[in-house]
Amino acid sequence: MTEQMNLGGSFTLPGTSMTLNRMGYGAMQLAGPGVWGPPRDLDGAIAVLREAVAAGVNHIDTSDFYGPHVTNQIIKQALHPYPDGLTIVTKIGARRGEDKSWMHALSPQEVNDAVHDNLRNLGLEALDVVNLRVGGMMAPSEGSIEEPLTALAELKRQGLIRHLGVSNVSPAQLAEAQTITEIVCVQNFYNVAARGDDGFIEELAGQGIAYVPFFPLGGFTPLQSSTLDVTAAALQVTPMKVALAWLLQRSPNVVLIPGTSSVKHLRENLEAARLRLSPETIADLDLIGAAAPM
Ligand SMILES: NC(=O)c1ccc[n+]([C@@H]2O[C@H](COP(=O)([O-])OP(=O)(O)OC[C@H]3O[C@@H](n4cnc5c(N)ncnc54)[C@H](OP(=O)(O)O)[C@@H]3O)[C@@H](O)[C@H]2O)c1
Repeated sequence: MTEQMNLGGSFTLPGTSMTLNRMGYGAMQLAGPGVWGPPRDLDGAIAVLREAVAAGVNHIDTSDFYGPHVTNQIIKQALHPYPDGLTIVTKIGARRGEDKSWMHALSPQEVNDAVHDNLRNLGLEALDVVNLRVGGMMAPSEGSIEEPLTALAELKRQGLIRHLGVSNVSPAQLAEAQTITEIVCVQNFYNVAARGDDGFIEELAGQGIAYVPFFPLGGFTPLQSSTLDVTAAALQVTPMKVALAWLLQRSPNVVLIPGTSSVKHLRENLEAARLRLSPETIADLDLIGAAAPM
């Protein structure tokens, strides 16, 4: 049994009893190469999930379009029946083509189908949190999100969803969403080198809403920065640990979901919660984002 560790403190999603340890886990990488199942190593994927939960991770981010279906099925195989206090956050709004492409799936029918797919593949009667994902692969694109979010709000009213979030959105889209339903979290692209949401994070902190950066380690193109390397060498840790520690110190409403298919990397990522960066180090790291605006 893995020793439970301090995972960066916790953050309670607004208006909920869901208190998330700030270091969570993003399950996308478990599906397999190109986020298309099956995984190269199913036993390894199951081991990563079990190790995460044993170490105290109580927030797993997923989607039924990872695999497709495969990531959710692995989560169910590894962890069902789920331990008390585990929050599984899923997202809907996309589907995969047979050529492995990613397409929007935002019609009310597609939204409804996706929620039922998630329920079935995760083995749940209600989904803890569903993020409506809109926009492009990396960045939001303006436009109304009323139709799909209204469909999700209706499924929430029916008891199939407990809470709603949004992903890949602009501040204007969040404001529109909040006229339709309560939003507990925003999941957008952000990391030490991609700082486009700096102002948005402050705004969300003021509202008590969680900000969950996707691609915290750079995603499919892992972060590369000489400043990160130099800082990591000086602290005798890895650059990935520094990148995660920087995010944890960025704002108390930042909740992390680094992804990995490796137990070794998982352990390393969780240990980042113990790393405390000095103000001088943070000032140095801030220059990475200034040099490489998104
Ligand atoms: N809302 C959205 O549109 C959206 C988009 C993308 C992702 N997401 C969510 O965000 C989560 C995180 O994103 P992500 O997994 O794509 O990107 P990420 O966390 O930025 O990085 C994952 C990549 O970094 C590697 N890695 C992880 N830990 C490492 C370590 N300690 N040392 C070296 N390499 C390491 C992983 O490879 P290994 O497997 O070899 O460790 C993987 O290639 C996903 O799981 C998903 O749930 C959401």
